[in-house]
Amino acid sequence: MFDTMTITKAGGALCGAFLIFLLGKWAADSLYHTGAVAHGGEEVAQAYTIDTGASEEAAPEADAGPDFATLLASADAGAGEKVFGKCKACHKIDGTNGTGPHLDGVVGRAVASVAGFGYSDGMVGHGGDWTPEALNDFLENPKGVVAGTKMSFAGLKKPEDRANIVAYLQTLGG
Ligand code: HEC
Repeated sequence: MFDTMTITKAGGALCGAFLIFLLGKWAADSLYHTGAVAHGGEEVAQAYTIDTGASEEAAPEADAGPDFATLLASADAGAGEKVFGKCKACHKIDGTNGTGPHLDGVVGRAVASVAGFGYSDGMVGHGGDWTPEALNDFLENPKGVVAGTKMSFAGLKKPEDRANIVAYLQTLGG
């Protein structure tokens, strides 16, 4: 009743099933970190641990780069002047307004405080002063930080560009 072919096929099927089992175990192992978890003083082996990312959040920011204050301390106002080329279409620095309000003395200036400029409600409601940190946030993502802003600008994605432009804006008198 069992010829060689049947036995070979059965053997092959078994091997195949075992391979799939091994692959599945390997996949499961890489998806779920299995490890011992302390439970009431004694170590209890968990079936699996769902990685919520909480441990990553607690870890120090490894690849977030230097913080803004550090970048600003070594920023290059000359390079910032070049980045300001992206703003010139709308912002003047001679005390007159264009599409956007003039930006002389903007660092430390109260938000939405240029007389005679028609700010959006979002900008008026923002409040506070344009500290270097506030400028850094706003320039990274204008529409995300000031909802409904009239400033049609996608943002400066590079932290260095933002630090350099703030260093440049700091050199402009009010
Ligand atoms: C397409 C035109 C445009 C470009 C480009 C643009 N802005 Fe603006 N900006 C505006 C407008 C319009 C406003 C007023 C926004 C509002 O009222 O919501 C504004 C507001 C601002 C304010 C707030 C000023 C205040 O008085 O409160 C700052 C700071 C600013 N822009 C900086 C920049 C910088 C720096 C760049 C270049 C990286 C830039 N903007 C590029 C149009 C522009």
